[in-house]
Amino acid sequence: MVYKLVKGTSDIIFNIENWRYLEEKAKELCSIYGYKEIRTPIIETAELYRRSVGQYTDIVSKEMYAFFDKAERFIALRPEGTAGVVRAYIENKIYSGNRITKWYYIGPMFRYERPQAGRSRQFHQFGVEVFNCSDPMLDAEIIALGMKYFDSIGLYDVKVELNSLGDVESRKKYIAALVSYFEKYEKSLNEDDRRRLQINPLRVLDSKDRKVKELLATAPKITSYLNEKSQTYFLKVLAYLDALDISYEVNPYLVRGLDYYQDTVFEFVASLGSNNKVCAIGGGGRYDKLVLQLGGPDVAGVGFGIGLERVLLSLTRSFLDKGITCYIIPLEEKVRLFCFKLLFLLRENNIRTDIAFENKKLKNNLKTALNLKAKFALIIGEEELREDAVQVKDLKTKIQEKVARTKLVSFLRVGLINEK
Ligand code: HAM
Repeated sequence: MVYKLVKGTSDIIFNIENWRYLEEKAKELCSIYGYKEIRTPIIETAELYRRSVGQYTDIVSKEMYAFFDKAERFIALRPEGTAGVVRAYIENKIYSGNRITKWYYIGPMFRYERPQAGRSRQFHQFGVEVFNCSDPMLDAEIIALGMKYFDSIGLYDVKVELNSLGDVESRKKYIAALVSYFEKYEKSLNEDDRRRLQINPLRVLDSKDRKVKELLATAPKITSYLNEKSQTYFLKVLAYLDALDISYEVNPYLVRGLDYYQDTVFEFVASLGSNNKVCAIGGGGRYDKLVLQLGGPDVAGVGFGIGLERVLLSLTRSFLDKGITCYIIPLEEKVRLFCFKLLFLLRENNIRTDIAFENKKLKNNLKTALNLKAKFALIIGEEELREDAVQVKDLKTKIQEKVARTKLVSFLRVGLINEK
């Protein structure tokens, strides 16, 4: 019996260098922008997501991995990062310092979705969340951070789409107008959209139905319903983006699939690899009432989540495994102790080195060295042991020379510098 992966999950084995690169770049950039890392648990109470993401959203009502633990607590595997980070912010009373808190995280999320390219049941997000600051400059900062991130990994064709959902007051008025518009066409709506219109009307803007999409062309747009405060706020966000020369498209139908947003919402859009399907590789927005809603003080929040699987699918370049520097090949049993000590001497000097563990033919060991992408093979036989020396073979030029063990480290360093 061969055990198989759970559907919608994957092992990360062969492109691990790409993953590490994406993660390291995120960390590097976040530290430049003043964001600290936060790690929250993968399990949280299911109720946390119902209260924040929203009970009628697809994420909570259809896609959440939720179960009762042995003590009958209703637990969920996190479908997204924001709710857990907000819980941690409140539970640890981070707000008591009354400072701006800037956090980032990288980790797995879980949604029971139908797997396809760019959609899996376990996926990874790089996200940021910022608390206690309702300056539109910050909305622009995080959008810029996302774009800078894509730039730094060589993903240049990303577009920003954004919209404002307004504050509670603006949204109420807009929802009323939207409902009365669609009620006129109720008969043309399918059952799903009719239900959406009743329990969460903004979701209708997300409908995939062709007829609804047509109707949207003449439907009221949220941008015309923003009150002065929300409108001014949105215009300021746009002005800050303009100041950074970040191009964007205002998409009045962008509502996002999570309920906690208000004012600014945005998505990073790119085409996914070979099938060229254009989709969101990241998204985020403001959630100024979420901390309050989850039992904390009235503290503003804003953030984004970027799906790393989708980023990898969009990337056409790959970051190659750098390989090792040296591969030590002992030619006979009696030199192995000498080689073993040499292995650790080189590692102590930060030279990436490995050794041929088992006695094999020189030819086979040289092949292994090439597979490991080694730059040098260090070949040691009885003569080298006697002379306290090493045969250094440059695996690219094939030039081989004998080097005294005591000079080996500086010899290799010169070789590596020349190569650069
Ligand atoms: P989201 O739009 O649900 O937002 O997810 C963000 C990103 O996660 C998506 O744009 C996509 O790249 C990736 N993603 C989502 N579902 C899947 C999946 N099944 N397979 C692969 N990738 C997926 C959030 O999660 C919010 N928490 C973002 C946020 C942070 N808003 C404010 N702060």
